[in-house]
Amino acid sequence: MKLNIACIEGDGIGPEIVTEAKKILDKVAEVYGHEIVYTNVLMGGASIDVHGVPLTEEAVNAAKAADAVLMGSIGGDTTTSPWYKLPPELRPEAGLLGIRKALNLFANLRPAVLYEELSDACPLKKEISSAGFDMMIMRELTGGLYFGERYTTEENGIRKAVDTLTYDENEIRRIAVKGFDIAMKRKKKVTSVDKANVLDSSRLWRKVVEEVAADYPEVTLEHMLVDNCAMQLVKNPAQFDVILTENMFGDILSDEASMITGSIGMLASASLNDSKFGLYEPSHGSAPDIAGKGIANPIATILSAAMMLRYTFDLDKEADAVENAVKTILRKGYRTIDIMSEGCTQVGCKEMGDLLADEIN
Ligand code: IPM
Ligand code: MG
Repeated sequence: MKLNIACIEGDGIGPEIVTEAKKILDKVAEVYGHEIVYTNVLMGGASIDVHGVPLTEEAVNAAKAADAVLMGSIGGDTTTSPWYKLPPELRPEAGLLGIRKALNLFANLRPAVLYEELSDACPLKKEISSAGFDMMIMRELTGGLYFGERYTTEENGIRKAVDTLTYDENEIRRIAVKGFDIAMKRKKKVTSVDKANVLDSSRLWRKVVEEVAADYPEVTLEHMLVDNCAMQLVKNPAQFDVILTENMFGDILSDEASMITGSIGMLASASLNDSKFGLYEPSHGSAPDIAGKGIANPIATILSAAMMLRYTFDLDKEADAVENAVKTILRKGYRTIDIMSEGCTQVGCKEMGDLLADEIN
């Protein structure tokens, strides 16, 4: 099979982790007989430095021309980087939001799994972490507060800022359908997370999710308020299968979920539209403080590449091989610094990539 992949290395640790993910994809291609063509695409700070904007039309077109996009991370240190002296619409993050919108990537899948081998890195109490957990956060990605009307103004000498949270029923329905479809392939439970005790957008969310649920009689649906969900994630994470939620809640809850897996360096993500096309990126940021030091954990990006093999290319066997390599290497005791624990062998970003590539054969 020929795999046409656009690569956005991005900023900070982005180039390092994408290099390791490509190493893994190349090994998969070699072992399973595929051909990969990569096209490099600039986005975020890297694009600002060259073009003065975080995302160009050419970049969007190059991404559209590929089957899938593999991304590292974008952004810099918000207090020191010159990118953050620019107006908000010209900063690195605007490039990421722009490409999500331009490619209609409304469904963001963020799997949070506690690997047995990493239970020591899990900050939860033993009696909670010992139950393990395996959840999929399904985050709406192109609506809500992120894309509603936004402005800053001054009224009678008082500064005022407005952000708007809007959803229409179609936006809610299509993400709900994706959530239930995924649940059918898992433990058949959907927890829809909202703030329906306060927000109108959440009350509509709840109604539409219930309408969709009617088409999935095998799936158990429960509603949970977002504040309670934040609490339940640390109290009893094993209860979750699919968490279905809007953009902002999903942003926050997925960081929380990643931390209880031991490190945000482990959490992959896929952002999908209505076709097979997807953008695959780790859920973590560009970690400018450790960029270039060779110590970043490439696993989230590598697991994102595995999601690409599974969701865009339907290469389940190949995806399994990558995921199993991660488990094996963890079992053998290799760790990057973020997940290091006593008795393990600490390795850098490149070494971790090499070890994983060796496991695929
Ligand atoms: C994420 C990130 C982005 C988001 C930022 C970088 C705009 O936090 O992918 O979770 O908020 O969506
Ligand atoms: Mg986030």
